[in-house]
Amino acid sequence: MRELKHLFERNLAWAASVKESEPDFFSRLSKQQAPEYLWIGCSDSRVPANQIVDLPPGEVFVHRNVANLVVDDDLNCLSVIQFAVEVLKVKHIIVCGHYGCGGIKAAMEDRQYGLIDSWLRHIKDISRSNFDKLKGLRSDKKFDLLCELNVIEQVGNVCNTKIVQTAWKNAAELSVHGWIYNIENGILRDLNTCITSSEQAKKVYKDE
Ligand code: CO
Repeated sequence: MRELKHLFERNLAWAASVKESEPDFFSRLSKQQAPEYLWIGCSDSRVPANQIVDLPPGEVFVHRNVANLVVDDDLNCLSVIQFAVEVLKVKHIIVCGHYGCGGIKAAMEDRQYGLIDSWLRHIKDISRSNFDKLKGLRSDKKFDLLCELNVIEQVGNVCNTKIVQTAWKNAAELSVHGWIYNIENGILRDLNTCITSSEQAKKVYKDE
């Protein structure tokens, strides 16, 4: 089935059911998007941004990559952040990681995966810089903690972007959050890393 006909059928059924419950849904959305949230999450198929927070189309601007990384030379991610902050004027940037992340797991191993190895290097760096926190832990605990530490690191990276720093300088109401999702029970947890100003970011991430 080369045309993926079943997906088009599902699409028609979905569009019809949305229209039935809210007749002006598409005409309203087609005029503009005004999301309050930018979601930076993992590409993992089990972690779909809108569904997890039960928000309809139009409410969340989304960027996803393997292991929800924010790397300072990744033009793709930075462009998303810039557009979200400067044009859409989102109020919240949510970095959402998840337990059981395949990207984190691969980074913990010594195997070679090809092209993605250079991407995973960023996680290996986090593992190295948190050696004291991770050493001696059972491997499953280590895996969970590295998933969390990665989120915290990426929140810092978002805060350190020129885009977010400039927004705060211009008194924008903008918070950066770090969350983690449990794929075993569908529950989100706030990692209590909410940052709302450059001063706070500097204080929290001073050791890095
Ligand atoms: Co993942």
